[in-house]
Amino acid sequence: MIRLFYFLSIILLVSSCKTDTKSNDNNDVTAHPELSEDSKIFLGNRLFSEKTCITCHDVDRKKVGPSVIEIMTIYKAKNGDIVDFLRGKSKPIVDTTASQVAVMQANIDGFLKNITDVELDAIATYMLHVDKLNTK
Ligand code: HEC
Repeated sequence: MIRLFYFLSIILLVSSCKTDTKSNDNNDVTAHPELSEDSKIFLGNRLFSEKTCITCHDVDRKKVGPSVIEIMTIYKAKNGDIVDFLRGKSKPIVDTTASQVAVMQANIDGFLKNITDVELDAIATYMLHVDKLNTK
């Protein structure tokens, strides 16, 4: 497990070095080494804590924001795209109350600007599979 952790950190380091922070016109995912689905889930789970998502989003219980299960139920039903939402490219579809939207929008305009495509993809993959993980 420790080895996997180091392995993932190295991949992350290498890929964030390659990614020019501001050049969004080159959003070619093939530029990154492809992680297996299990690695993405593992990494996404870790990032969900490290990037503080967990402080507002519990897996199955409403906190400041809706639970991950609730978010994913709606995203699956409406065919939503988590990555697009977190990049500010699509509108909220889970909780559209203005005050709640503003809380999440502050993250999108703030620290999420610095997150890499690989990290975002991992977080989205983790969220997509959260109902099948043994998180209790
Ligand atoms: C300070 C609290 C807070 C933090 C930190 C936070 N969120 Fe949220 N999030 C919210 C609130 C409140 C909502 C409900 C408003 C909404 O749906 O847009 C929300 C909604 C969402 C939604 C659903 C958007 C929709 O379509 O309605 C997603 C997806 C999401 N958050 C992902 C994340 C991820 C991933 C992180 C970490 C990178 C994160 N959030 C960090 C408070 C937070």
